[in-house]
Amino acid sequence: MSNSIEIEKRRTFGIISHPDAGKTTLTEKLLLFGGAIQSAGAVKNNKIKKTATSDFMEIEKQRGISVATSVMAFNYAGKQINILDTPGHKDFAEDTFRTLTAVDSVILVIDVASGVEAQTKRLMEVCRMRNTPVIIFINKLDREGKEAFDLLDELEETLKIKVRPLTWPIGMGDRFKGVYNIYKQQLNLFAPNKTGISDDVQSLEDLNSPELDEKIGKEESAELREEIEMIEGIYDPFDREKYLSGELAPVFFGSAVNNFGVQELLNAFCEISPSPRGRESDLRMIEPNDDKFSGFVFKIHANLDPKHRDRIAFLRIVSGKFQRNTFYNHIRNEKKIKFSNPTSFMAQDKSVIEEAYPGDVIGLYDSGSFKIGDTLTEGEKFNFKGIPSFSPEIFMELENADPLKSKQLNKGIKQLMDEGVAQMFIQQPGNRKIIGTVGQLQFEVISYRLEHEYGAKGRFMPKNYFKACWITSDNAEQLAKFKRAKTRYIATDRDENLVFLAETPFLLQMSEQDYPDIVFHKTSEFKLDKR
Ligand code: G4P
Repeated sequence: MSNSIEIEKRRTFGIISHPDAGKTTLTEKLLLFGGAIQSAGAVKNNKIKKTATSDFMEIEKQRGISVATSVMAFNYAGKQINILDTPGHKDFAEDTFRTLTAVDSVILVIDVASGVEAQTKRLMEVCRMRNTPVIIFINKLDREGKEAFDLLDELEETLKIKVRPLTWPIGMGDRFKGVYNIYKQQLNLFAPNKTGISDDVQSLEDLNSPELDEKIGKEESAELREEIEMIEGIYDPFDREKYLSGELAPVFFGSAVNNFGVQELLNAFCEISPSPRGRESDLRMIEPNDDKFSGFVFKIHANLDPKHRDRIAFLRIVSGKFQRNTFYNHIRNEKKIKFSNPTSFMAQDKSVIEEAYPGDVIGLYDSGSFKIGDTLTEGEKFNFKGIPSFSPEIFMELENADPLKSKQLNKGIKQLMDEGVAQMFIQQPGNRKIIGTVGQLQFEVISYRLEHEYGAKGRFMPKNYFKACWITSDNAEQLAKFKRAKTRYIATDRDENLVFLAETPFLLQMSEQDYPDIVFHKTSEFKLDKR
């Protein structure tokens, strides 16, 4: 079978949401439709740690917070769907951002009562940076929430994306009757259904038909007719091209926990979402149909088995065909490596695979040779762009609390940074290690892992920085002057790029004003352009 048939079948996406909007529940229902799990609760149990298949770290088990990003694949309507799960906890946002580089589209879940929340905005910013196509699922219609039109306005304003409803709710909360599927002209009547997968879907091409009044009541019918008319008046028809270029988000309504509106979402997803897309490299655009295999590592999990210090690197295949036991080039290390046990992830099971295609995510066992962002190819020398680091929000200096174990500490912290647990900036004099994270939880993860995996003891001393900005300039003189003036706030990242650690927004603004030829980058993405 040619690669292009395999590629066309694949849909690789991520579900993103503010915690508690219903991401886990929706994931589970999608897996039910795909037959990848047999009962409701399977994914949820995973989340709350009853089974540990996707949670590799002890600390997760203790805390009951899913920090793992796992991959679940299933088949539906002739498509092979790969869901890349993302941690909802905000302290692991960086992990989620990286996962978004490995998907071709996303489904964004919004709680009808809460609307757009802090985490939703940040995640959408990342999607916009890459023009990732977004489908919005408004969840929990079985509860009272915001009016649908108000919510759509809020989405457009706060997420800075055009929206187009493709289904429409009939009432909500206790009065929730179902949804009208605008583009398929079907009526789907609501019946709470926590376990099964069948919906009561009926064609209804003519909204003026008296049948509608019989089914949902006179008042509700009148309201629905009026609202649909308004929608057609306010919103442009759905334009797939605009969706694919990330300008327009189709919107669906439903109730994930009741398995309602999920099938419409899945069907539409299969129809409109993109098949695997190419990725930019420092050499050229690499297309899925290119003959030769290539891929990049976007995630590393440590300690699948606490007895062995092995790690699993998650590789997104970009082009060609990956084959087991075949030598590939590890570009950064300039080494050839082969993999005897590459794994795929079918829901909760992992199994060894012989081959994999663009869009697939496979797990590669690794004893420490991979870093986030590494490229593997069949021969050609290039690096994929675009695994960004964002400025951390909390900074601490890592001190060695056990002088006899400094070697262990250095090794441990380096490996944890390779995995992307946090970012480390080195400050002079004395090679001081400043660790930056987006949440407090990572410091606990680091301390715990340094001690349990590496036998080292670290102590964190708070640092009063507000942001790390990567700095570049074509004006060498001005850059040198800045470095002299701000010695105490200059550091380097893992690739030896210069970083300015700003103490306050005001000081950052002053620096930007006083040194106009220096660019203060908020993400590390710029680095890739100069490679
Ligand atoms: P997350 O992954 O985005 O964090 O959200 P998750 O799916 O865990 O859902 C958060 C809570 O919202 C869960 O309740 C879940 O049952 C509930 N929920 C999800 N979809 C719907 C829906 O359509 N309607 C209503 N009413 N609730 C929904 P929980 O109390 O935290 O957990 P549980 O005890 O119900 O499992």
